[in-house]
Amino acid sequence: MGKPLTLTNLLHRKYPEKDSSRTSSPKFDTLKGLILSFVKVSVETVTLGSSSVAVAPLGIGTWAWGDNLFWGYGKDYSQAELRAAFHAAVELGVNFFDTAEIYGFGESERLLGQFMTETDRPVQIASKFMPLPWRFSTQSVTDALSASLHRLQKPSIALYQVHQPFDFFVGQKNLINTLADEVEQGRIQAVGVSNYSAEQMRQAHQYLADRGIPLAVNQMQYSLLARQIETNGVLSTARELNITILAYSPLAQGLLTGKYTAENYTAPIGARSLNPRFSRSGLEKLAPLLQQLKEIGEQYGKTPAQVALNWLMAQGNVIPIPGAKNAEQVRQNAGALGWSLSPEEVSKLRAAAE
Ligand SMILES: NC(=O)c1ccc[n+]([C@@H]2O[C@H](COP(=O)([O-])OP(=O)(O)OC[C@H]3O[C@@H](n4cnc5c(N)ncnc54)[C@H](OP(=O)(O)O)[C@@H]3O)[C@@H](O)[C@H]2O)c1
Repeated sequence: MGKPLTLTNLLHRKYPEKDSSRTSSPKFDTLKGLILSFVKVSVETVTLGSSSVAVAPLGIGTWAWGDNLFWGYGKDYSQAELRAAFHAAVELGVNFFDTAEIYGFGESERLLGQFMTETDRPVQIASKFMPLPWRFSTQSVTDALSASLHRLQKPSIALYQVHQPFDFFVGQKNLINTLADEVEQGRIQAVGVSNYSAEQMRQAHQYLADRGIPLAVNQMQYSLLARQIETNGVLSTARELNITILAYSPLAQGLLTGKYTAENYTAPIGARSLNPRFSRSGLEKLAPLLQQLKEIGEQYGKTPAQVALNWLMAQGNVIPIPGAKNAEQVRQNAGALGWSLSPEEVSKLRAAAE
């Protein structure tokens, strides 16, 4: 297969002596900069809740970036693949990256910070604060954000989320108010939460509303294989309050790509070893759904992963943030954009998942 038709690759064809996507040739840089200033990437954007932040309708998850505790960073994939993934995403206009201070103990943010210095294209970052038990005061929120911004090498970011609905000593109201202060000071453009129940989300929304600031997102696990938010009130409350759902693990940690099957079973490691769906019997149960994804995808020339992500976007008010470890995964996942499953296919897939 030839190289994809990106601006960088086109320029490399013109200037074959330069083989790296991060060339330092002034002629190359000037030409690329000039073209980029004229070329508008044609990915539509969606607004995060009622905030001022508009992002691509599909993000990129970076939990695995720099993480060797749950994922195989440094063993199965390296910085080179992640750099290629980052630049492929940005060139496609899929430039909304989800990270967190705890991913790779800061390494995910550090890598993103480094990669962002290598592009002139716009990039939007969502990061997260973890309310750990030993974080006693609101100063710890401010300090954690300062540390994230330092690793990201940015004065501000698009979205800052509370990673888990823990209370401990700071208390929800103080925590949310500190985030509202940060919006007013311009270090974050919007506030989000993650893993909040309908009730917790409603409360956070109210605390922010008292300050005249919208709650932009609730980041929740949501995929064809994890549809709890459809029945526990989170999705309906988010719709009522105009809070966007950022759907995490939208490919069910890779299961919905179809590459993990009972036929090619290997014992899962890392994060996947905690998920019973990766067991042999779990994979056997999954086969009919994967078959449906495949059959529907064939009608559109799409892969099961692209169909699974498109299904999520069809729910409305949902932005999937699939994790990607290389440029090929980014490109494939970006192929979930620009087309739509029919309402009948959306229902058929839900039924198959049940
Ligand atoms: N807020 C929270 O509590 C929370 C929790 C979990 C995740 N998240 C966020 O959500 C993001 C995504 O979730 P996730 O990483 O757990 O699961 P996911 O997006 O469902 O799956 C990602 C994994 O699937 C594989 N993959 C992705 N695209 C593929 C493709 N096109 N073809 C083949 N394989 C592909 C890759 O792993 P392999 O190549 O190893 O198969 C990748 O690491 C995270 O990165 C993070 O930003 C948030």
